Amino acid sequence: AAPAAAATRHAEPVVIGHRGVPVQAPENTLASIDRAARLGTVWVENDVQRTKDGALIVMHDTTLERTTDVKRLYPGRAPWKVSDFTLAEIGTLDAGSWYDRRFKGERVPTLDRYLRRVDHNRQKLLLEVKAPELYPGIERQIVAELRRTGWLDAAHVRGRLIVQSFNASSLRTLHTLRPDLKKGFLGAPKASELRSYAAFADQINPSYKSVTPSWLRSVHALKGPHGRPLEVSAWTVDDADEAVALARMGVDGIITNAPHVIAEALADD
Ligand code: G3P
Ligand code: CA
Repeated sequence: AAPAAAATRHAEPVVIGHRGVPVQAPENTLASIDRAARLGTVWVENDVQRTKDGALIVMHDTTLERTTDVKRLYPGRAPWKVSDFTLAEIGTLDAGSWYDRRFKGERVPTLDRYLRRVDHNRQKLLLEVKAPELYPGIERQIVAELRRTGWLDAAHVRGRLIVQSFNASSLRTLHTLRPDLKKGFLGAPKASELRSYAAFADQINPSYKSVTPSWLRSVHALKGPHGRPLEVSAWTVDDADEAVALARMGVDGIITNAPHVIAEALADD
């Protein structure tokens, strides 16, 4: 970069693989985080929901038909809600063939297997509690699963885990259960409303289209529950020029479907 630009430069944002690397492997699968690891992507994002019999799994949509072969295996079970299927049933689904036959046989991961693989890959996790309004009590269950898998030890909690949600009340519940956990609110509250989010959120993570320099300044001016300035991770940014513009503006993280492309663009700027 030119010296003048370098003088006003912010630290390079962290790049986060949205659902893994969905431009190269089926979203929210172990194959997707393994692909991220091979590309050198340290941070991955996922979505967590609950089955009919109470198991936590990794899946974005609240229905199963887009990212599995559920329609073929269970044709009479429309609308194929995640919450209408047991873990054993979901375990029979192919979560890879819809994407590419090279991924045939890929399974919908349990949160337990996913957390262990992220650890094995030495990656870090932005865990989204997806649609918690459909799953009463899921916050307590997620905390229990994090504890059981070693994700609540100091090293994970301080530097390898952030839990985010569009649902502020779910985040407040999580904050009561585990004040030490870092949390991100998904959305772009007005500057005048940000202070109430800073009581429980360490990050405010908006659609990148909502980010303006003045809004970003308002967020960064506030301190979160752990006494540090609030951070901003913007989603979902797949255009290199857009990512560079956001980095120059000063965002702290970029959530992207193509983390390798965005990391290279930021490094080259
Ligand atoms: O991480 C931000 C982003 O994942 C939120 O939107 O719908 O992809 O979960 P969505
Ligand atoms: Ca998500």
